[in-house]
Amino acid sequence: MQKVKKTKKDFLTLRDYSKEEIIYLLELAEDVKKNGYKYSKILKDKNLALLFDKPSTRTRISFEAGINQLGGNCLVLDSKTMQIGRGETYSDTAKIFNSYLDGVIIRTFKQETVETIADNCDIPVINALTDSYHPCQILSDMFTLYEEKLLFKENMKFAYIGDSNNVLNSLLIGFTKLGIDITAGCPEKYSPDKKLLEYLKSESEKSGNKITVINNPELAAKDADVIYTDVWVSMGDEENTQKIYDLKPYQINMSLISNAKTGAKIMHCLPAHRELEITSEVLDSKNSIVWMQAKNRLYAQKALLTFLYSN
Ligand code: CP
Ligand code: NVA
Repeated sequence: MQKVKKTKKDFLTLRDYSKEEIIYLLELAEDVKKNGYKYSKILKDKNLALLFDKPSTRTRISFEAGINQLGGNCLVLDSKTMQIGRGETYSDTAKIFNSYLDGVIIRTFKQETVETIADNCDIPVINALTDSYHPCQILSDMFTLYEEKLLFKENMKFAYIGDSNNVLNSLLIGFTKLGIDITAGCPEKYSPDKKLLEYLKSESEKSGNKITVINNPELAAKDADVIYTDVWVSMGDEENTQKIYDLKPYQINMSLISNAKTGAKIMHCLPAHRELEITSEVLDSKNSIVWMQAKNRLYAQKALLTFLYSN
């Protein structure tokens, strides 16, 4: 493993990370998973806070357990019982975080919120999901594919099928940074954000990957090695019930995956809405690697914390 020097204080989006840094994080996650004992003092005497404005099972628990396993202490905060809930600004709150804490992990709505907090403190700030991005999830997903020896497999076809959301945005960025092709199968009205595609176009010119956006689920799934999906209605978007009807043809079911390669792996960041975006038959099938994705959140995030705190 070639050690890479840390140049950023935060982890807000994979846009800020280079191919070398991402590969280093994947290799580090592999070592953290194999030799956890080596990393048990990385966060000794450090206090990190989790501030979650949206529900979470995996992200919150894996960060709490991971911080403890790295020898640190974890505080769980709730905006509603803090003065943020009464209008104190995020920039003022960040200055307070800076006085007592060694790091903050935030799940919230606007990406600007995590950016404002990061800009107003000297401690690392980690994005645990915003409406725009979910970089911790994608780090774990790339690690899972790396372990499965699929990530750098020649001509690997990775197809995300469903809603264009924070998870797809981060997948597009992560895969582009690594120079790996990615196909997004989404209805035209739920296609990836144009501004993001513009940015990715210039990144693809550097990395050499190809991004394909298709408004046809069967074509998106055709000959895929991996099929990934996520919920149709993300947290904070619950009023948009129309999506459930519009995305119906994009459901991951046995018929759709019959277009993919035999044995194609199935991914989902979870939580799954069984029988909506994915059938139980597919989610629980032997080719589903969703539980490994979830388990790997712990190792990928411990690797991230090790990177941010030991350079
Ligand atoms: N995948 C994911 O982030 O799950 P949680 O919402 O349970 O944290
Ligand atoms: N796109 C989903 C991901 C949940 C982990 C959401 O934002 O709700």
